[in-house]
Amino acid sequence: MRHLMSPMDFSVEELDRLLDLAQDIEQNRSRYAHVCDDKRLATLFYEPSTRTRLSFEAAMMNLGGKVLGFSTADSSSAAKGESVADTIRVVSCYADICAMRHPKEGAALVASMASSIPVINAGDGGHQHPTQTLTDLLTIRSLRGEFKGLTIGLCGDLKFGRTVHSLIEALARYEGVRFVLISPEELRIPSYIREDVLDKKHIDYTEVERLEDAIPALDILYMTRVQRERFFNEEDYVRMKDFYILDETKMLLAKKEMLVLHPLPRVNEISVEVDKDPRAAYFRQAQYGVYVRMALILTLLEINV
Ligand code: CP
Repeated sequence: MRHLMSPMDFSVEELDRLLDLAQDIEQNRSRYAHVCDDKRLATLFYEPSTRTRLSFEAAMMNLGGKVLGFSTADSSSAAKGESVADTIRVVSCYADICAMRHPKEGAALVASMASSIPVINAGDGGHQHPTQTLTDLLTIRSLRGEFKGLTIGLCGDLKFGRTVHSLIEALARYEGVRFVLISPEELRIPSYIREDVLDKKHIDYTEVERLEDAIPALDILYMTRVQRERFFNEEDYVRMKDFYILDETKMLLAKKEMLVLHPLPRVNEISVEVDKDPRAAYFRQAQYGVYVRMALILTLLEINV
């Protein structure tokens, strides 16, 4: 039985197969409509979510399966003190596979060790968000064809933004990818990503503060929100929250084929005026999230179509 805690749990070959499957699902939806007719997905969300939870549920329903779960810790027995390990032991009796989001780093890993069904980490604190990474990889590969040779700018809260950490780790395994890390000093990428991933693998990267300086060279601009829920005090968040705002003026500096991605939700970091720019790909990205989660469910349940 396999779980998914990090995108690194899959080899590059396995990742490529998963993305191939997701692309086949996109093109042949009806072929997959009943392959999980007798399966159930549990969504155990101890932290708020729109896209991840609903796209997992849509994914299972698109495969013919059923869903059950909770969307807040308060509405589960966690509110009475039940441990994650006990919860997953019980949920293993009700479902065939589970997606879990939790504010604590490592919670999904703890669950996987007590589980008798595959556990998917749907975000654990500021640590990892592997299914967002799979979504991002599928979006980039579908819209740009390949990863090789791309200059990818990651902008905003690179310290607490778990989607950024997972994406860098995953993309660093592909040849010829270059990163431009755009953040204020206080929200720079954690040293474990810089040292254990970028430096160790001799990845070409630069760190800059001004988006205007970085944007002309980028093939992909991955914007992120400042993660209010991970700040220790509100004052620091307020000071940082509008540090970057991507607007039409900044888009004029970008290549005409640059893509703008964002894991969403956005707050102020992309002006709504950018939404009508054909380079804005963040809503298409949310759609790709359904296909890749369908592919992931099939892969972890070992269902071959
Ligand atoms: N991208 C993402 O994880 O969105 P949600 O928090 O709405 O699930």
